Amino acid sequence: MAPLWPLILVAASGTLAIDTPRPRSSALHHLTKQLLQKYHKDVRPVHDWTEATMVYLDVCVRAVLDVDAQNQKLKTNVWYIEVWDDEFLSWNSSMFDDISQISLPLSAIWAPDIIINEFVDLDRLPDLPYVYVNSSGTVKNSKSIQVVSACSLETYAFPFDIQNCSLTFNSILHTVEDVDLAFLRSREDVKHDKQAFSNDSEWELLSVSSAYSTLRSSAGDFAQLQFHVVIRRRPLVYVVSLLIPSIFLMLVDLGSFYIPPTCRARIVFKTSVLVGYTVFRVNMSDEMPQSTVRTPLIGIFFTVCMAFLVLSLSKSILLIKFLHEEQHSGQERPLLCLGGDSDADGLIMDRRAHLDGVAESPVSQEHQAHSRTLKEVLSQLQSISKYFQAQDQAAQQEVGWLALLERIDRLLFQGYLVMLGLYAVTLCSLWALWSRL
Ligand SMILES: *[C@@H]1O[C@H](CO)[C@@H](O)[C@H](O)[C@H]1NC(C)=O
Ligand SMILES: *[C@@H]1O[C@H](CO)[C@@H](O)[C@H](O)[C@H]1NC(C)=O
Ligand SMILES: *[C@@H]1O[C@H](CO)[C@@H](O)[C@H](O)[C@H]1NC(C)=O
Ligand SMILES: *[C@@H]1O[C@H](CO)[C@@H](O)[C@H](O)[C@H]1NC(C)=O
Repeated sequence: MAPLWPLILVAASGTLAIDTPRPRSSALHHLTKQLLQKYHKDVRPVHDWTEATMVYLDVCVRAVLDVDAQNQKLKTNVWYIEVWDDEFLSWNSSMFDDISQISLPLSAIWAPDIIINEFVDLDRLPDLPYVYVNSSGTVKNSKSIQVVSACSLETYAFPFDIQNCSLTFNSILHTVEDVDLAFLRSREDVKHDKQAFSNDSEWELLSVSSAYSTLRSSAGDFAQLQFHVVIRRRPLVYVVSLLIPSIFLMLVDLGSFYIPPTCRARIVFKTSVLVGYTVFRVNMSDEMPQSTVRTPLIGIFFTVCMAFLVLSLSKSILLIKFLHEEQHSGQERPLLCLGGDSDADGLIMDRRAHLDGVAESPVSQEHQAHSRTLKEVLSQLQSISKYFQAQDQAAQQEVGWLALLERIDRLLFQGYLVMLGLYAVTLCSLWALWSRL
């Protein structure tokens, strides 16, 4: 029995080998081995070295992740496809079980060195290790990338802003004689392809226009493909949270001009509006893009409004101080919320009546007194009348001041109205420009 054991073992291993075929015997393995055995991934895959390798590119913008105006950076998620022909990776599919395409490790074959020119931080999401190759040697490499690209972002028209950022693809080393670029799809298709774009973010994709050009430099001519990603902000949230409150605040501010300038309540009112402005600005600075190049227009408007407010406030303070000094120089004059002019006029009338009363009483005495005492009284009377004339002049001066301040107030009011008009017109035209595209 003993000599039979090896035979049984051999028979058993034979049946095992038949039941579970090893990968070596598969057509896929044969093909892969045949393709990669003599393959040199360092060599550009062309038979004729004078021929350029054509690389077809396609870009599909899938999401706008971040628009950073302060650092002038745009973060997008892009689906990116490269297709090129590898002349050493073709086979006759009828000889390999009709396999028409296989996947090969990207690290094992030659691949073009194409980069995005603008990138400041390229973050390949999952690094896909395989590429598809079909029997005529066409290699297709697709990947999803997160591109943080430098872009000149304009925030002047915020929140009605449209950004135009480019993604430029070129070979980092190979000149146009070695590696040439082309579009995989027609440019019209690329331009209006919004299928993959996630439509629920703050930004709306308008178009992706593209252009081919050759970049001339001392190292040679480089082929480059440019994709201009044009995105538009959805302004509704900013209109509700910034524009409408700002307009209300400006209207309240405008209303403060209707409180008489001599009224102390005006200072209190304007101060509260100023506090309101400050709180609003702090609130706004969180929401507004912080650009160092150009300040958003609504920020400028707010500063101008605040300047008007501060001017009119300091004018009111000056006026109150002036009236207070008058009060201390001997006159009892309560500062009520009355029109400056009518108030001053009443005072003058008062004084005139008083003067008349003083002038009348000596006339009744005249018949009884002697002529000498009469002269004395007359001279005294004259001095009294001089005193009152001086007072009268002071009062008139006061009226002049009040009139001047009132004029300044009216001027400020008109300036403010003009400003508000400008604000409304610019906002409307920005909105019109925004909605035109
Ligand atoms: C592929 O192989 C089949 C059979 O071996 C042959 O008939 C055919 O001509 C080949 N095709 C090419 C393009 O070489
Ligand atoms: C390989 O892919 C290219 C590009 O998609 C195509 O033009 C070609 O016909 C394909 N070859 C085969 C044999 O399917
Ligand atoms: C975007 O900018 C590029 C050049 O920087 C320009 O050619 C293109 O027309 C612009 N697109 C739009 C929609 O403004
Ligand atoms: C994206 O949203 C806009 C309106 O906000 C709509 O007009 C457009 O059809 C949407 N696009 C897709 C692909 O859903």
